[in-house]
Amino acid sequence: MKIAILSRNSKLYSTVRLVEAAEARGHEVRVLDVLRCYMNITSHNPSIHYRGEDLTGFDAVIPRIGASVTFYGTAVLRQFEMMNVFPLNESVAISRSRDKLRSVQLLARKGIGLPVTGFANNPDDIEDLISQVGGAPLVIKLLEGTQGIGVVLAETHNAAESVIQAFMGLKANIMVQEFIKEAEGSDIRCFVVGDKVVAAMRRQSAAGDFRSNLHRGGTASLIRLTPEERSTAVRAAKIMGLNVCGVDMLRSNHGPVIMEVNSSPGLRGIEQTSGKDIADLIIQFIEKRFETLATGKDKPFNPSRTRTRGKG
Ligand SMILES: Nc1ncnc2c1ncn2[C@@H]1O[C@H](COP(=O)(O)OP(=O)(O)OP(=O)(O)O)[C@@H](O)[C@H]1O
Ligand SMILES: [Mg+2]
Repeated sequence: MKIAILSRNSKLYSTVRLVEAAEARGHEVRVLDVLRCYMNITSHNPSIHYRGEDLTGFDAVIPRIGASVTFYGTAVLRQFEMMNVFPLNESVAISRSRDKLRSVQLLARKGIGLPVTGFANNPDDIEDLISQVGGAPLVIKLLEGTQGIGVVLAETHNAAESVIQAFMGLKANIMVQEFIKEAEGSDIRCFVVGDKVVAAMRRQSAAGDFRSNLHRGGTASLIRLTPEERSTAVRAAKIMGLNVCGVDMLRSNHGPVIMEVNSSPGLRGIEQTSGKDIADLIIQFIEKRFETLATGKDKPFNPSRTRTRGKG
C-alpha cells in the first residue's frame, strides 16, 4: 500500500514509529507536513498539491493532527477523503473529538459515565452552576486547554467562584466539573485500535498535583483494566467514530468516568509502558480495513456513506 502520514514533524516519536512499522510490513510511506498541503477543490478531479507536486496514488492516510492545526488539518484530510483515500480516522470524527463540550454531550447521550459537568455563559449563573456539580472542590477546565494547562482545581467555594468569574471575564470558554477525589491524582489511558483496547496505562500525577499528564511530571505504569473499563473505552471510541484513539478515564466511586477521547494519541508513553508494538497494530488495522474495502466485502470508501449519522 501507499500510505501518507500527515504530521508536522517527521522526527516525532509517533511519526517515526508509524513509518518504521509501515515499512517493515512492506508499504511505501510518506510523511507530509499538513500545512504544506494545498488543495484544488472540484467535484470531478479533487487534488492535493505538496510543494509543487501533485499527490496521487495514496491508498490510506494516517492523520496526526495537533490541536493547534485542527482547522487546516481536517480540511486537508477531507480532501484525501474526497479522493477516496482511506483515512485511519475520519476528518468529521477528529473535529468532533476536538470540541470537549460536544464530546461530553455525545458521550452522555449514549449513557457513558462522565464526571458531572456544567457549562454556562453568564456570570449571574455561577452560583447555580457550582451547586449543579455538587459544590467545591471542583475542577474548572478551559475548553481549549491541553496537556493539563488550563485545568484548575478550586478547593473552596470562594476560589471556584472567583476563578470562574476571571475566566468568564476573559471570555474564555470553560467547563466546570465534579472533582473525582477518589482517583487520587491518577487517570487511565486506554489505547483503542478498531474494537479493542490494545494497551492501557495508569498515569500518576507528580506529588502535590492532581493532574496526571506526563507533560506535567506524571509517571506511567501498567494497569489491568476491568471488563467495564475496557467496554467503556471501546464504546466511547465508537460513539466518537474514531478507529484509533486514546480514551482517558478516571476510576470513580460510581465506575469509570471518561474525561477525554484523543484522536491523535501519542505512541511513546503507551509503547514504552506496555512493551507492545502499537504502531504495528495500527498498520495491521489499516491493512485489514483496506482489504475489506478493496475486496468489495464493503463498498469502496466514501466518506458521505460511512459518516456516522445523527451524532452531531
Ligand atoms: N474531574 C476531574 N476530577 C479529578 N481529576 C481530574 C478531573 N479532570 C481532570 N483531572 C485530572 O487533570 C488531568 C488533566 O485534565 P484533562 O485531561 O481534562 O485536560 P488536558 O489534559 O489539559 O486536556 P487534553 O487531555 O485534551 O490534552 C487529567 O489527566 C486528570 O488527572
Ligand atoms: Mg488529558
